[in-house]
Amino acid sequence: MSELIEVLTKDGSYSLRSLFFNENFHSLLGALEETKLKFTATSNLQRFKGKSLNVLDICFGLGYNSASLLNELIKQKSYLNLYALEIDKNPLEYSLRNESFLKLWAPKVKIIFESLYRKDYFEDQFFKCSILWGDAREKIKIIPSSFKFDLIYLDGFSPQKCPQVWTIEFLSKVTEKLNSQGYLITYSSSAAVRKTLRNLGLEIFTIKPSFKNRTFWSQGTVAIAKFDKNKFKPNLNFEKLSVMEEEHLLTKASIPYRDQNLNSSKHDIIKHRLKEQLLSNLVPTKKWREKWGMTKLALKS
Ligand SMILES: C[S@@+](CC[C@H](N)C(=O)[O-])C[C@H]1O[C@@H](n2cnc3c(N)ncnc32)[C@H](O)[C@@H]1O
Repeated sequence: MSELIEVLTKDGSYSLRSLFFNENFHSLLGALEETKLKFTATSNLQRFKGKSLNVLDICFGLGYNSASLLNELIKQKSYLNLYALEIDKNPLEYSLRNESFLKLWAPKVKIIFESLYRKDYFEDQFFKCSILWGDAREKIKIIPSSFKFDLIYLDGFSPQKCPQVWTIEFLSKVTEKLNSQGYLITYSSSAAVRKTLRNLGLEIFTIKPSFKNRTFWSQGTVAIAKFDKNKFKPNLNFEKLSVMEEEHLLTKASIPYRDQNLNSSKHDIIKHRLKEQLLSNLVPTKKWREKWGMTKLALKS
């Protein structure tokens, strides 16, 4: 599973490519930039200044999302309970060897990552962090059911490459762990993922493309549990879905990924979805793409 190749992205930050999944860990435009724009800036971390929060990082990889989070929370003196899920130890081992990755963050991030690598655990006065190694579909069950998260980062490979972490059944387990008003944040703007999150009762938003990345119509999705607009703090990074995005959810692309017992192979999940798409009366995605002049590039996730 862990044939990995080093990739230097356009903002000068390092990432990896998985030969097993045949996909990069980050956008080639910039691993650091992707983490900051899609995950950190979207998290509204100022809400937790001097306070405590619980975060779940699914598909930890090199650890960019957790590192950037820790870096901000160190500055604003927040208290954090972090759980991370990851199947492969090699990306974290790579991060710990890569000086330019480590230099991006406060020195304490390296101490925490070393402890996660050696002991799967770190604890001090401010932070309590655990990493659970293995298939996220299994390991998520170990997190005590009473434990609820203010933020969940979902950063798996794309649904076509790693559908196991985008199914109704897995997303249902994930979203039941969200606190009321908690955010699930993902880079994916897949119609299947969005429709599933909406059907699970979450309010969904689109992460706006940055000025530099205007060729993309969205940078991902934020799904908020038990959304209450009176408690919601506006965030310039995300907004309601556009008409075009709403129409995407009416097409065959919105047919969900299914994994009834949370142990299906990638092949079976994709095969069953294709069958369901063939039998479906929903609008063919091609029609939607033609109507909105959509290119394949803009549809990656
Ligand atoms: C796109 S990369 C994650 C990028 C990451 N957030 C980072 O900062 O590097 C996807 C990660 O998901 C992990 N992964 C793939 N399938 C998994 C599974 N079933 N359970 C847990 N982790 C998985 C891969 O090993 C890989 O590290």
